[in-house]
Amino acid sequence: MIADEDFAGFERRGWADDDTVAAYARDFARASEMAVPSLVAECAVEPGMAALDLCCGHGIVARGLAKAGAIVTGVDFSPSMLRIARTAVPEVRFVEGDAMALPLEDACFDAVTMGFGMPHVPDPPAALAEARRVLRPGGRLAYSVWQEVEQSALTYVFAAITAHGALGIALPPGPGATDYADPARAFAAMRAAGFDDLRLVQVNSRWRIEDPATPFDFFKDGTVRGGALLRPQPERNKAAIRAAVAAAVTANHGAEGPWDVPLPSVVISGRAM
Ligand SMILES: C[S@@+](CC[C@H](N)C(=O)[O-])C[C@H]1O[C@@H](n2cnc3c(N)ncnc32)[C@H](O)[C@@H]1O
Repeated sequence: MIADEDFAGFERRGWADDDTVAAYARDFARASEMAVPSLVAECAVEPGMAALDLCCGHGIVARGLAKAGAIVTGVDFSPSMLRIARTAVPEVRFVEGDAMALPLEDACFDAVTMGFGMPHVPDPPAALAEARRVLRPGGRLAYSVWQEVEQSALTYVFAAITAHGALGIALPPGPGATDYADPARAFAAMRAAGFDDLRLVQVNSRWRIEDPATPFDFFKDGTVRGGALLRPQPERNKAAIRAAVAAAVTANHGAEGPWDVPLPSVVISGRAM
């Protein structure tokens, strides 16, 4: 049961589920993919560099790094994600491992990326410290994370859950979904982990959708936290949440589709001191 599980176990079990992984890769990641060019650019990747992609999932950031000419290693703890990644991006070496305890030597990478991994690790500062450990001095780390803003699919879905969800679904305590998008918190954590030359870049990530209720489906089927809150809801509550999401999309983005629903994100980066 969710309430008896710690956050690390909750995440590991969630991302081991083939259906969640397939839905994330097929649907949800259409927005995640939009952060890849900024992640690659903020790491100043050049041909021949050694790059590490943490929480690599099905390999979209690793592919971007490889296309820029880097020699890439991807790390994720989900065998299900790694199966897709190995087929999709055969030129990358994918390793099963935990971002907070990397099975890698000190100072062996010129660049480290982490696409939308920060809210999934139980201790984000520990993951930043691991990234710093495996970077050579002068190398750059860049991570992407969703932003908390009024006009976002994230806000529409979680507001609808608060308004119409059945009570009593308690998730194990972990980092907030958007905590490390806040520059005050992010830059303090980056400095503490040994990074300087800190930067924040805005990404206009979004979903183009034909049905205004689609963000409900993408969060329910393709995320661990959203799935845990949405899948067990009684049918009546699910229908009310779905309708509220559709209403928020049409109220904020027009009555007629298709809709470009924002799911904005930021890329935060720094240089290893
Ligand atoms: C939201 S997905 C992001 C995947 C990919 N980076 C992207 O941008 O689409 C989060 C990924 O982090 C992985 N993950 C979560 N916690 C992890 C940990 N402690 N160590 C390694 N991977 C982890 C999950 O298995 C999942 O693949």
